[in-house]
Amino acid sequence: MNFHVLTLFPEMIMQGLDISIIGKAIGKGIISLEAVNIRDYTLNKHKKVDDYPYGGGAGMLMQAQPVYDAWKAVNQKIKDQGRDEKNIRVVYVTPQGKTFCQSMAKEFAKEKDIILLCGHYEGIDERVLEEIVTDYISIGDYVLTGGELPAMVMIDAIARMVPGVLSNETSGETESFSNYLLEYPQYSRPEVWMDKKVPEVLLSGDHKKVEEWRLERSLEKTKILRNDLYEKWVEDNQEYFIKKAKREERRLKKERKKGKLI
Ligand code: ADE
Repeated sequence: MNFHVLTLFPEMIMQGLDISIIGKAIGKGIISLEAVNIRDYTLNKHKKVDDYPYGGGAGMLMQAQPVYDAWKAVNQKIKDQGRDEKNIRVVYVTPQGKTFCQSMAKEFAKEKDIILLCGHYEGIDERVLEEIVTDYISIGDYVLTGGELPAMVMIDAIARMVPGVLSNETSGETESFSNYLLEYPQYSRPEVWMDKKVPEVLLSGDHKKVEEWRLERSLEKTKILRNDLYEKWVEDNQEYFIKKAKREERRLKKERKKGKLI
């Protein structure tokens, strides 16, 4: 997958992402990342890319021309590399967009190329947005000084859903949010740390019991920390609770038979 970022601060994007897991994936050629400096495309002799908004108001706006020409250059490059440059999604990262989430990351990871447009100042001339943008996406209800950090957040989340980027192919699927549940608690060596012992079941070697325990802990954690997600899960997994209730009924019956309960 190829990420193309239109930005006024290309070094911020490259320095922020060309490390660790994403950096390794770039090194292996599983993904590529280019940051295109919008300023390189301005026709203004002083390299200016912003101007005052018509009608007045605070701050400056990024002008249409350099943004449009930077986008055209990326399209041409994609075409020159033999890929289809039409229908490429152009994401404008903006607090006015839809809120980014895990299912969006998964969807975007299916694209061959994606262009992310980072705004600055008070925004970008509406006309170029109308012309090139396919998706308006925010990373949350707060305002940052520019689109670079949100673009980096999105690229990281999308890239790790591209097959081969994570060493364990399935780990992107089993973790928090992929099925509405938060991840269960995890433990590593030593077995006892500060008098806290690793839960016995994890040392038992009984995979079925471990799975059951993990699901129960995920449910517990999600109910406490993200009740909204928990309720969605409950709605989609009625079967789980019915089976669990039946199991409990059978267990009680057995114990009654043994005379343990009245
Ligand atoms: N640009 C500034 N703030 C932003 C946000 N919260 N999400 C996406 N882009 C932004």
